Amino acid sequence: MTITEPQRTPHEVGTKIVLEASGVTMRFGGLTAVDDVSMQVHEGEIVGLIGPNGAGKTTFFNCLTGMYIPTEGTVTLNGTKLPPKPLKVVRAGMARTFQNIRLFGNMTALENVMVGRYCRTSSMALTSILRGPKFKREEAATRERAQELLDYVGLSKSTELLARNMPYGDQRRLEIARALATDPQIILLDEPTAGMNPKETEETMHLIFKIRDSGMAVVVIEHDMRFIFNLCDRVLCLVRGSLLVEGTPGEVQSDHRVIEAYIGGDEDKEEIA
Ligand SMILES: Nc1ncnc2c1ncn2[C@@H]1O[C@H](COP(=O)(O)OP(=O)(O)OP(=O)(O)O)[C@@H](O)[C@H]1O
Ligand SMILES: [Mg+2]
Repeated sequence: MTITEPQRTPHEVGTKIVLEASGVTMRFGGLTAVDDVSMQVHEGEIVGLIGPNGAGKTTFFNCLTGMYIPTEGTVTLNGTKLPPKPLKVVRAGMARTFQNIRLFGNMTALENVMVGRYCRTSSMALTSILRGPKFKREEAATRERAQELLDYVGLSKSTELLARNMPYGDQRRLEIARALATDPQIILLDEPTAGMNPKETEETMHLIFKIRDSGMAVVVIEHDMRFIFNLCDRVLCLVRGSLLVEGTPGEVQSDHRVIEAYIGGDEDKEEIA
């Protein structure tokens, strides 16, 4: 598991904690999918979350973003405890993308990003129905911002394409644009390069650096170790719901427990013995 030298751009990780999860546990009946996991994410930091299939990574994201109410534990954003309600979490400043892409397939790329923007617009249902001047002004601003975000993620030419007709890699980028439309302070990405070719993966790495450089904190789940170790300031490895190892990319990639968790090192040792 030797990875090429990190290509991270030099930058300072802040000392301010943006996101803090304390003792988060999620049980489904007899299965403990997330077991007492704590994590701190600082301003300007890119944190990686790795672990074998079924380790609890997505479930942990679901607990952070209010999709699940954790059985135990708390999640705070900028020191304020988050209610376990997805819309409230988004409004508080945390956005996410999904492992299984969740776009509106029959809407255009632009419309998908505009949907993300609506949590920041003030037009109420009645204003929308009456379509008064305030609604029209807000709609024009939303459209303009959505186009800016498509340009930002490299989808300038896809504005009018239906999401379902876009290549897989572009759909993942569109999800990032929609998440950015909510004006987050922190963005959680669940397998942003799954299904991408090496060129798209490289472009996604640069997009995430750009997002970080704009002042956001980032948490990324990925199975692509080269991607994770080149991208992240700090990496957490979950195994069977528990936090196994936490450290710099260098520390984590050389930790034998991480290697064993992925390749089943115990059995290998027995075979060798
Ligand atoms: N809603 C649910 N009800 C019951 N069990 C669940 C639920 N969601 C997840 N699980 C279980 O929790 C465990 C962790 O699943 P999770 O999807 O979080 O893993 P993961 O680390 O994201 O895996 P992958 O790398 O394959 O995406 C698995 O055993 C899964 O079957
Ligand atoms: Mg997952």
